[in-house]
Amino acid sequence: MTETEPVAFPRSRTCPYHPPTAYDPLRTARPLTRITLFDGRPAWLVSGHAAARALLADPRLSSDRTRPDFPAPTERFAGVRNRKTALLGVDDPEHRTQRRMVIPGFTLKRATELRPRIEQVVDERIDAMIAQGPPAELVSAFALPVPSTVICALLGVPYADHDFFEGQSRRLLRGPTAADTMDARDQLEVYLGELIDHKQKQHEPGDGVLDELVHQQLRDGAIDRQEAIALAIILLVAGHETTANMISLGTFTLLQHPEQLAELRDDPALLPTAVEELMRMLSIADGLLRSATEDIEVAGTTIRAGDGVVFATSVINRDETVYADPDTLDWHRSARHHVAFGFGIHQCLGQNLARAELEIALHTLFDRLPTLRLAAPADEIPFKPGDTIQGMLELPVTW
Ligand code: HEM
Repeated sequence: MTETEPVAFPRSRTCPYHPPTAYDPLRTARPLTRITLFDGRPAWLVSGHAAARALLADPRLSSDRTRPDFPAPTERFAGVRNRKTALLGVDDPEHRTQRRMVIPGFTLKRATELRPRIEQVVDERIDAMIAQGPPAELVSAFALPVPSTVICALLGVPYADHDFFEGQSRRLLRGPTAADTMDARDQLEVYLGELIDHKQKQHEPGDGVLDELVHQQLRDGAIDRQEAIALAIILLVAGHETTANMISLGTFTLLQHPEQLAELRDDPALLPTAVEELMRMLSIADGLLRSATEDIEVAGTTIRAGDGVVFATSVINRDETVYADPDTLDWHRSARHHVAFGFGIHQCLGQNLARAELEIALHTLFDRLPTLRLAAPADEIPFKPGDTIQGMLELPVTW
């Protein structure tokens, strides 16, 4: 790479659990490099761990996707920039107000209370796989339905509608065109708008997060219907797609690392640290976006007001000044401080829930199906392209 040839971003991974080899130059050019986005626009790519944490906590970087200078990684993303995204797409103080409204539903206590329900959902899916007999396609039989069922229970969304909202979420995150993405967003807006209207008419509110939102914040005028819909969309979409990808890619990665899998089986007490290490290693949300509202000096470089800034979490989480031998999956390192859930005010709202789901799903899957293995050659199993949340498109398994 030379000064005149910035790396194009995003690129697809060559192995689903390693950063794209095209990002190798970014691993040596820490902490900041120039990149080119799909539309030819230059942006900064942050690849150093310390710089990433400093910048993700810096209020001079905006998350407001409606800003004209906000970087777009794909054409489809550029298409929905005129729609207001709740939480992830707003800055303080608006962000703080929204986050406070929904945080009670996502505390560690709430995630702990949900554990028996998650265990039940996981067991039911494995029962169904066993009843049907091997082989199975693990994304549709397990990785997607588990978080989808759990987020429905938590939010108060009928799981009976899962085919519809899973399909629209898929189109929203990786539809073929910008028009497709816009349509998916419209359809989710209509669907969740109707659900919110229905909840508003109920005399006996349910106990979901959306019921609380409707019967407290919306009723009291703290938010309007449109804002309630925007909150519902991000909670529903982020609440199932991300964790589903971590379960599918986490399972694939464990099957490709038999020694580490055996160690984890022998000592389930390693599970919480193993989940953190998998989060670090897989960095499935690989390309967090911001735009600078003021000039920012960082590591001897000036990010100018209006510049786009992209955080390649897969590269940041393999900074060898923080993680020795960063390409190795190691349950004995402290992977804490990874940025796979982001950092700063937008740090993942659902991380307690996601950790509980991952621990239970991965542990129970390998516990109940001890001979689980791939049902196709590893290099023939399709995974997601680089311009969306990373994960397996399919995962054929047998036992
Ligand atoms: C393993 C699964 C997950 C991963 C890897 C993940 C990753 C992330 C990341 C990286 C961010 C920060 C984005 C940024 O700063 O630009 C984020 C934010 C967020 N996540 Fe997650 N997430 C996961 C699961 C969940 C779940 C289960 C929910 C439940 C609703 C959720 C809801 C959210 C929300 C609402 C935000 C925006 C928070 C804010 O702006 O204040 N996520 N997530």
